[in-house]
Amino acid sequence: MSFSPQFLDELRARCSLAGVVGRRVKLTKRGRDYVGLCPFHKEKSPSFNVVEDKGFYHCFGCGAHGDVIAFLMQNGLGFPEAVEQLAGEAGLEVPTASPQERERAQRQLDLQGAMEAACVFFAEQLTAPAGRAGLAYLRQRGLDDATIRRFRLGFAPEGREALKRALAGKVAESLLVAGGLLRQPEGGGASYDYFRNRVIFPIGDRGGRIIAFGGRVIGDGQPKYLNSPETPLFQKGRVLYGWAAARAAAAQEASAIVTEGYMDVIALHRAGFTTAVAPLGTALTEPQIEELWKLAPEPILCFDGDSAGVRAALRAADRALPLLRPGLTLRFATLPVGEDPDTLIMRQGAGAMREVLDAARPLGEVIWTIERQVHPIDTPERRAAFEQRLETRVRSIADKMVSDNYRRYFRDRLFASLAAERGSARPRTMAPGGPRRPGAAPVQFVQPMRPDPRALFLRRSQEVIFATLLNHPALLDEVNEDFAQLEQLPTDLDKLRREILNVSALRQDLDAASLRLHLSQTGFDRTVDGLLSPQVYAYSGFARPDVELEEARRGWVATYVELYRRGHLAAEIDRAERGLADDMTEASWAQFNALREHRQEPEDDAEEFPSGGRGGAH
Ligand code: UTP
Ligand code: MN
Repeated sequence: MSFSPQFLDELRARCSLAGVVGRRVKLTKRGRDYVGLCPFHKEKSPSFNVVEDKGFYHCFGCGAHGDVIAFLMQNGLGFPEAVEQLAGEAGLEVPTASPQERERAQRQLDLQGAMEAACVFFAEQLTAPAGRAGLAYLRQRGLDDATIRRFRLGFAPEGREALKRALAGKVAESLLVAGGLLRQPEGGGASYDYFRNRVIFPIGDRGGRIIAFGGRVIGDGQPKYLNSPETPLFQKGRVLYGWAAARAAAAQEASAIVTEGYMDVIALHRAGFTTAVAPLGTALTEPQIEELWKLAPEPILCFDGDSAGVRAALRAADRALPLLRPGLTLRFATLPVGEDPDTLIMRQGAGAMREVLDAARPLGEVIWTIERQVHPIDTPERRAAFEQRLETRVRSIADKMVSDNYRRYFRDRLFASLAAERGSARPRTMAPGGPRRPGAAPVQFVQPMRPDPRALFLRRSQEVIFATLLNHPALLDEVNEDFAQLEQLPTDLDKLRREILNVSALRQDLDAASLRLHLSQTGFDRTVDGLLSPQVYAYSGFARPDVELEEARRGWVATYVELYRRGHLAAEIDRAERGLADDMTEASWAQFNALREHRQEPEDDAEEFPSGGRGGAH
């Protein structure tokens, strides 16, 4: 619907901005203006100004700015809805542009009335004898009455005509068919109820008006969920379940959570995460991403921690890229493997969910990390291919400013990555008599029956490196790149590394217990048990779980350096030096010095690895 500029001016003139804002924000008069706490960001002292005579508001804290229509839109209403609401309050008649438009609007209203009537019917059925099984099911899933009312949950009874009969005479059958509530058989014949014997989840538009339903079978059965067909009111790819319920909290907290299912949204709300929404059984669409940004600038998407989840996260990230604008982005959180928010909260409580959300990572980092794990950059050609992959993504960002910033961000990361690699010489090999040709397959010089002590050394060092990270995953944040580049890993460790990098890519603040749980669920128990063993600890007290992080870090770096020799150290010192400039603390100073001492040791006189036996020739 379009409105003439004259109409909009009249509307603005008739509405008191302070009056409209005042319903949401406690305003205090200051001179000719009003001030209050900004509703769009968290603050303790008021920086939100309402300039009544000019008809705009401005927040000096977060930059929110606009007129009375914009205020309602920033609170989540669409433009036409905001105009309609204000016109209603101001006693202005909303002009309809054409008879067709008027007719269409009327039709939408009628349809909406039909949906509302059905919603009321379903809700009544849930507490009627016919709905006993449905109510029992919801109860068994932990929902209380208040939640059931809040989300207007209902029940569609068994039988082909329960809804049809109940609404007969009240709502035209053609409307029920058009709204997807009755199904009209193609070959003719009587229409019948679309939802039968299902628990009903009403789906609302941004104004909370019911436009569709999702119906779940009780217990097992296929399909598990049935959604309303597409109607003039309902286009599945444009709607988010729970949007209206999330709006107020989302505006207040400037955050939003995206999960997969109806039950997850409800479980999250119940656990206090009242900004949760969900798409309707499909991956997020572009219109849905735009809908999300009406809730908050950086919504958090939750994904399962398995590899399908990682792929889904990457797809969502790619879909969002073209839409990014300054300040508007997505973040990514990883659930423990096999859990959805509903089961996680049920089993481990809201605290566990909070941790998952707090560990959410920015979009750029997610793309970088996932790509980096899959694509080696150890030759110029591979680097070029890798850069090309990133550049393609950068180009997909329509907003020039964001695009430029992404290019810079990826360049910086690549530069740091290459600097680290350049620093790290090839590991010393088992081949006696000179350096191995890069890229050549490991050469077996060992006599069959006697294990080569140098091979053993290599393996032990690698085990120590893994064990330290398993017990102190916090280190991963720092040493991620080095770890990703460890060469000559045997297959079992290589696979394990991939999985570790996978989880850590999507979960910040990963602790040892969650990491182990994840690895156990992905079938790494045996490898992990082998690593966290007395044989390995015997070489490296610092790898143990109970040592301080700082000690573990020193041990890890020393082992890595030992394995990769001096070249790497230069980069390490470089990095420590840079860290020092940013953050001059005792710890960073100590680390810097420790590294420098390391360097001062004569190149050829390397200290012995605790096990005895160094890694081969140079
Ligand atoms: P899930 O299978 O993850 O189910 O589907 P869930 O939400 O965890 O459901 P519960 O906990 O078993 O009750 C996620 C979403 O995918 C859509 C629904 O929107 C569902 O909420 N879906 C799922 C369908 O549309 N049809 C289906 O058959 C299954
Ligand atoms: Mn579920």
